[in-house]
Amino acid sequence: MSLKDDLKDIRDQGLDDINKSTDLKSLNNIRVHLLGKKGPITSALRGIKELPVEKRPEVGSYANEIRDDLTKAIVEQRDNLANAQLNKRLAAEKIDVSLPGRSVPQGQPHVIQQIIDEVVDLFLGMGYQVLTGPEVETDHYNFEMMNLPKDHPARDMQDTFYITNEILMRTQTSPMQARTLEKHDFSKGPLKMISPGIVYRRDTDDPTHSHQFHQVEGLVIDKHITMADLKGTLLTMAHQIFGDKFNVRLRPSYFPFTEPSVEVDITCFNCMGKGCDVCKHTGWIEVLGAGMVHPNVLNMAGVDSKQYGGFAFGLGPDRFAMLKYGVDDIRDFYLDDVRFLNQFSKRGI
Ligand code: PHE
Repeated sequence: MSLKDDLKDIRDQGLDDINKSTDLKSLNNIRVHLLGKKGPITSALRGIKELPVEKRPEVGSYANEIRDDLTKAIVEQRDNLANAQLNKRLAAEKIDVSLPGRSVPQGQPHVIQQIIDEVVDLFLGMGYQVLTGPEVETDHYNFEMMNLPKDHPARDMQDTFYITNEILMRTQTSPMQARTLEKHDFSKGPLKMISPGIVYRRDTDDPTHSHQFHQVEGLVIDKHITMADLKGTLLTMAHQIFGDKFNVRLRPSYFPFTEPSVEVDITCFNCMGKGCDVCKHTGWIEVLGAGMVHPNVLNMAGVDSKQYGGFAFGLGPDRFAMLKYGVDDIRDFYLDDVRFLNQFSKRGI
């Protein structure tokens, strides 16, 4: 066997090994073996010097040719293997962008809080301050300062949870009127405030009564405030919360802390005033109590009722929510059933 034949065998065997290699690591081993210093080509080249001088160039260039062939084959095979490996990875890690994403459950304000937020936003825009007060209140602020002395029969209008003789769960947000009047400095300007919060009454729970519910108190005191201001304010609110088509109506009523007192109706949401079962065929639904602040309330809080006067109102967000969404049982708001509450999602979840 001539050296040339040896080289040809080396090439055939080498190409065979290269093409059969299935991963980059074994291909690299083949490369090191074939082309390395201890490899068959190097040792064949070493044998050249044993050949007659005239044969050397031919065999030498043949050896180089073989080395080039093998090198080329290795590079090609390396590309093939690398591509195959990449394709395998791409297939394994494929992302199906058409799959819907996983939604992250997000909370939202309770439907009653949503109503309160709307009311608060509206009044903030009209320059009112927003104040909150204690739910555990004194008899003094809840009743006496609201012109309801101890033996006053109107106390029965609001069945009360007493903690002691003097401490109770507030039955209304009206004590915030007295608390604010006491603190307000009229030399700095008129008093305009709303006070949202929770109130408690010892009612037996039924579809329209809960022992716990919400109120938003409103109070405006200045010189020259009239009942027209009250009506305009209430109309603005009705438009904001319910819509422009709603009207308000004031009916004479009685509260110890306002004189005159009114009960405020808005257009029945169900029949828009035509008369239906919901509004007992009157076309109107009662939504809040209001009136011109009684001089006794002002005087007791240290405000001169000869100079100052104004209006107050107390509205029930629970009732607003019932009317706005046609909910017929107030207790549903307090059961914390997300299936019920999600119906009022602003995000539509
Ligand atoms: N506090 C009264 C109630 O709870 C509502 C009201 C507030 C009435 C302010 C007049 C003025 O029924």
